[in-house]
Amino acid sequence: MTSPQVQRLTDALYARRAMPVDAEAVARLAIETFVAKFGHLYNMQDLQTYLHLAYSIDAVERTLRDADSETWLLCDAVTHDNLGFALLGKASLPHADIVPADGEIKRFYVDPTRTGQGLGAQFMDFILTRLLKDGPRTLWLGVYSDNDGAQRFYSRYGFEHAGEYIFPVGEARDREYIFKRVAP
Ligand SMILES: CC(C)(COP(=O)(O)OP(=O)(O)OC[C@H]1O[C@@H](n2cnc3c(N)ncnc32)[C@H](O)[C@@H]1OP(=O)(O)O)[C@@H](O)C(=O)NCCC(=O)NCCS
Repeated sequence: MTSPQVQRLTDALYARRAMPVDAEAVARLAIETFVAKFGHLYNMQDLQTYLHLAYSIDAVERTLRDADSETWLLCDAVTHDNLGFALLGKASLPHADIVPADGEIKRFYVDPTRTGQGLGAQFMDFILTRLLKDGPRTLWLGVYSDNDGAQRFYSRYGFEHAGEYIFPVGEARDREYIFKRVAP
């Protein structure tokens, strides 16, 4: 089961490039994972505003049609359930050192009922291969300042703190760290 759009990762897992027709499934998974991890940080109005902006079906479909980014789903090889997703593209974080050739992991989420089982690690290996398919380059990502688990996870792949910025969620303002992985 390997093609440019479907990549076998292990006997139990494959990655599948999400297409516009997958907008509803991606939106559902994105909302579930975001609310499970961060929902308690915001009031209902701020949360709804953000979820609509980032993960309405229209918004996700626009992202899936964007030629400068790609979304990959992590899938169970037996049940074909979606276990996670990642959005990759050109780096667009507010950092002075970013150049047009740099890449970014814009979203990286694993099903909240399946975290801590090594799925993220297997997915990340694939995502890095994808981002570096045309050769070495610097990669970036943004991570919530209090998300110690994700920061530890990204550090294992060579990402290091390189700055910070303010990330709006409705009227709320989050402190977001910028992590950088220098081209080896
Ligand atoms: C951050 C995230 C993507 C990592 O994915 P994951 O599947 O949980 O990652 P892994 O299972 O590979 O690693 C997580 C931890 O589980 C441990 N682990 C991995 N396999 C394990 C296993 N079989 N048994 C026990 N522990 C295991 C890892 O050692 C790691 O430990 P750590 O917490 O000390 O770093 C995931 O937890 C997630 O989606 N979190 C919520 C959303 C989020 O924060 N996303 C990032 C936004 S910037």
